[in-house]
Amino acid sequence: MATAPNDEKQSAPKEVLLRVDSLSKIYDGAVKAVDDVSLTVNRGEIFGLLGGSGCGKSTLLRMLAGFETPTKGKIFLEGQDITNLPPHQRPINMMFQSYALFPHLSVWENIAFGLKRDGMPKDEIAERVDKMLSLVQLGKYPKRKPHQLSGGQQQRVALARSLAKRPKLLLLDEPLGALDKKLRETTQLELVNIIEEVGVTCVLVTHDQEEAMTMASRIAVMSEGYFLQVGFPEEVYEIPNSRQVADFIGNVNMFEGVIDEDEPDHVTVNCEDCIQYVGHGISCSPGQLVSVAIRPEKILLSQTKPDDKYNWVEGEIIEIVYFGANSTYHLKLTSGKVIKVQEINTTRELTCWRTWGAKAYAHWNDMAMIVLTQ
Ligand SMILES: Nc1ncnc2c1ncn2[C@@H]1O[C@H](COP(=O)(O)OP(=O)(O)OP(=O)(O)O)[C@@H](O)[C@H]1O
Ligand SMILES: [Mg+2]
Repeated sequence: MATAPNDEKQSAPKEVLLRVDSLSKIYDGAVKAVDDVSLTVNRGEIFGLLGGSGCGKSTLLRMLAGFETPTKGKIFLEGQDITNLPPHQRPINMMFQSYALFPHLSVWENIAFGLKRDGMPKDEIAERVDKMLSLVQLGKYPKRKPHQLSGGQQQRVALARSLAKRPKLLLLDEPLGALDKKLRETTQLELVNIIEEVGVTCVLVTHDQEEAMTMASRIAVMSEGYFLQVGFPEEVYEIPNSRQVADFIGNVNMFEGVIDEDEPDHVTVNCEDCIQYVGHGISCSPGQLVSVAIRPEKILLSQTKPDDKYNWVEGEIIEIVYFGANSTYHLKLTSGKVIKVQEINTTRELTCWRTWGAKAYAHWNDMAMIVLTQ
């Protein structure tokens, strides 16, 4: 993760740059694209908006930029109400999914475009553009046209152009959508480094949870126009507040069951496939229906039966998905339920007992799971 909430960052005073109060956008009187969203973004933060297609991410971003008028709610930047300001009067810049570089203009002219339009003196423009070019490490290519650059380089020109006017808030809508996987990964880190170097505050839209985890300091998980959960990346991954968030962020195995013992230091849940022993108390009552969520990487496979009453299941390996660094095993339990187990491939051996059709036990420790009530 790029910006872990380390002690220093947590204790530093946080200054709110952007505040959004109960913002809604209803199209044609019926489509609730954004539904009563409130949020604060701190100065210098990269705030990630994560959600599936059509959940309202771009609409929210367009309202922040001023391209869309909210049906309800207010937007404050540095305490000033900007809800009704036109886009060009907001110290905000938006980088669109398709970078929208001018194909007939050179890299240098693309970056200078907005500054010229604002009537900035020529020598200041030259100084600013050169600075931006070196920031995004394209100092060698000022004269090239966009089509003479790679996808990643074009993306950096678009970023330089967005940053040239020194916005207080930078809005990035799927900034890496056009790049292939490998380039995306390196560009994610480059982008975070540049954003941090400039010190600009960012709202980043993505539907890719790994991208949100890598780049954002906090993430809002969005669905049908509203926020399901807002938190640090490790919070939304390890402590999701609902089945929907657990399911959306990464892979998860879900066991439905009924609370049996409910003690301050542990809880047991009777599930069809096993008894879950959760090593901490939760606010539930016996008899309550819950879901126990366990991530595939927190489960281990073994050939021998675990010597324990709790937290294991028996099954048959019906599918193996090999990723190189790790493999995911699909284990079919006696009940017919299929769970996923992910293990790191620590050796180079090509043969192993974990093969198709093999009988296997899957087990996990009492802190591996999270009990979800909604
Ligand atoms: N101008 C519009 N008029 C009517 N409905 C719209 C308009 N713009 C967006 N919508 C609807 O609002 C909802 C949210 O759209 P939005 O573009 O914000 O989604 P998104 O989260 O950005 O999706 P994607 O990941 O696919 O880009 C969708 O149901 C969409 O069809
Ligand atoms: Mg969108």
